[in-house]
Amino acid sequence: MKLVFLGPPGAGKGTLAADAAVDLKLSHISTGEIFREAVRAGTPLGLKVKSILDSGGLVSDYLTVELVKERLAQPDVSGGWILDGFPRTIPQAEALEIFNPPERVVNFDVTDELIIARLAGRRTCPSCKRIYHVTNMPPKKDGVCDACGAVLVIREDDSESSVRHRLVTYRRQTAPLIGFYEVKGRVLTIDAAGSPSVVYEGFRKALR
Ligand code: AP5
Repeated sequence: MKLVFLGPPGAGKGTLAADAAVDLKLSHISTGEIFREAVRAGTPLGLKVKSILDSGGLVSDYLTVELVKERLAQPDVSGGWILDGFPRTIPQAEALEIFNPPERVVNFDVTDELIIARLAGRRTCPSCKRIYHVTNMPPKKDGVCDACGAVLVIREDDSESSVRHRLVTYRRQTAPLIGFYEVKGRVLTIDAAGSPSVVYEGFRKALR
């Protein structure tokens, strides 16, 4: 199965993808996580994209498409994948149609109000990448990852100004992809406003 997860920042794409990848035995590929890892490691790619990520803008289509093309050519993803956060522009979607078209596009429907509340409370594990929320999905021990014991961090791009910019970018450049895939009959829209288990159930029903 080849799935694209499409939705605004904070919609819960990464949270759902983590569970769905395990259940459906798919590789979870998050372009945002690949970029953040490069920034953390201080690689040439990381140095190039750090300021773009921090401000909430988009990395260039050329760079992102090349990165995904390379990742999808690796043998460990041959059993199927979830692309979380790619494509994000029409040129990226057109490129993906040529080298590896998705079968289904899961569109996360959620209000701005919920997005802001989710991003304001998000905490992530810098080591195993698990995602938490201070009230919705808190760790057992405050500020510490349940899975690996690392100290949880707030993402640089969860600042108020960056979130505002990311929402505008989403509406202008990414939301048009819903129409792009709708005419191809591949969009499954899910209500992403419920609890993680309710959202997951809606996702599994939509896939049937
Ligand atoms: P990326 O990492 O893809 O960020 P994003 O799309 O803005 O999405 P987020 O990771 O912020 O949110 P999410 O939907 O995964 O929500 P989450 O599950 O964490 O991209 C980051 C940056 O990289 C971009 O801004 C850009 O610069 C660059 N980039 C990436 N891809 C690119 C591309 N293709 N082209 C160009 N540039 C690119 O959940 C959020 C919070 O809500 C968490 O705290 C979670 O615990 C909580 N939560 C989740 N689900 C629920 C629920 N059902 N109920 C209650 N709380 C919930």
